[in-house]
Amino acid sequence: MTFFIKTFGCQMNVNDSEKMRHLLVQRGLAPAADEEHADLLIINSCTVRARPQEKIFSYAGRFGRGRKVILAGCVAQVEKEAALARKARVDYVVGTHQVHRIGEIAGEILAGGRPGLEVGFSRRWQELVPAAGARSSAVTGFVPVMEGCDNFCSYCIVPFTRGREKHRPLAAILREAEGLAAAGYKEIVLLGQNVNHWRDPGSGEGFPGLLRRLSRLGVPWIRFITSYPGYHEPELVAAVAECRAIARHIHFPAQSGSTRVLRRMNRAYTREGYLRIVAAFRTAVPGMKFSSDFIVGFPGESERDFRLTLSLLERVEYESVFSFVYSPRPRTRAAAWKTDVPAATAKARLAELQVTQAAIQLRNNLRLVGAEIDVLVCEPHPRQAGEMIGRSESYRVVNFASRTPAGAFTRVRITGAGPHSLRGEEIIVPHA
Ligand code: SAH
Ligand code: SF4
Ligand code: F3S
Repeated sequence: MTFFIKTFGCQMNVNDSEKMRHLLVQRGLAPAADEEHADLLIINSCTVRARPQEKIFSYAGRFGRGRKVILAGCVAQVEKEAALARKARVDYVVGTHQVHRIGEIAGEILAGGRPGLEVGFSRRWQELVPAAGARSSAVTGFVPVMEGCDNFCSYCIVPFTRGREKHRPLAAILREAEGLAAAGYKEIVLLGQNVNHWRDPGSGEGFPGLLRRLSRLGVPWIRFITSYPGYHEPELVAAVAECRAIARHIHFPAQSGSTRVLRRMNRAYTREGYLRIVAAFRTAVPGMKFSSDFIVGFPGESERDFRLTLSLLERVEYESVFSFVYSPRPRTRAAAWKTDVPAATAKARLAELQVTQAAIQLRNNLRLVGAEIDVLVCEPHPRQAGEMIGRSESYRVVNFASRTPAGAFTRVRITGAGPHSLRGEEIIVPHA
């Protein structure tokens, strides 16, 4: 029997899919090359905006016929029984906190078991899956540290898909990270909806303390996504400043540059407060870089509010930005509000934001021409023979001719720049 996992959404879903794959292989199932060749299709789904959710049901309709289908992830969690009743045929619904049960459930339905669902929340499911066997990369290792969210931003469905905040024990996180260090991983990415709110349930030790401990493992880059500005504590700045292994780059979603909009979004910070945190990082950590998410067309967003978002982009000079048109989501507070920004206006604002950001990135990148930077070699260029694609500490894409294998660090002199990538020459360090 064979299976195929299709993953939508964020890195937490990517990590959950790694775990499901491991559990299914343990169960004796073999990975299929693609969905057409699979007896069992698992769709690990995302519902953060309406469009990704539509894509999931059309995907299920397209590939579901002739095989068993498990709907897992965030759509599964919020749709529950309704997902079984939909036209797109789904045999089983597995919620975000039932990943550890996927092997058993797959076994049952492949043996002709009845459709069903498993959508309860659990505090400990992460500890029930052996992470070591579940990795798809030998270079970058994901380590979930917390899951869930208590913020209820007025637009956001995630508190309903991932439940209340749950923090993993320090000992479990350290064990997993030490395993990655021993296996020679180059990069650890801590995962959670509000990573910077993590606290050890036993000792109460906070997130900066965790970072300090992880920075001593010998893994060159420690990263973490996502931090919520409303939970910022100055100690985080100190930890990043002191520990060179913590990447000098933070994904720090602002969502809007207007305090008025932030208040309606139920984000617990102001434009000024956010800028103060950015300034504190910049003062204490030379070369600190930021990236962000933004929503445009939120109910009540005026032209002036939108200009404030553009000016925030200019002030912070983000390395990269993910931007979205507001999408009303069921059960959220804003879903009941009038969407008073016309769709065409929201679309135009998104385009303007993206053009503005591309210009900022080009400016940032041009400043790097002539500099020498450390690059993690990621993969051969798909079309250019002899070329490799790498990433800088702040996630810049760097193209360069090289024979250094993927997964190794190298040093590159930047020779050219575009808005979305850098060009460079590898510096061959002579052996002493
Ligand atoms: N926990 C993260 C966000 C996870 S969702 C945080 O607080 O930053 C990822 C991104 O999707 C959000 O940052 C937001 O920009 C976007 N998003 C979430 N809900 C949305 C909605 N209803 N409409 C449009 N974009 C949304
Ligand atoms: Fe959603 Fe806000 Fe929680 Fe992020 S902090 S997951 S945007 S509710
Ligand atoms: Fe999507 Fe769920 Fe992640 S809704 S963004 S997959 S937490």
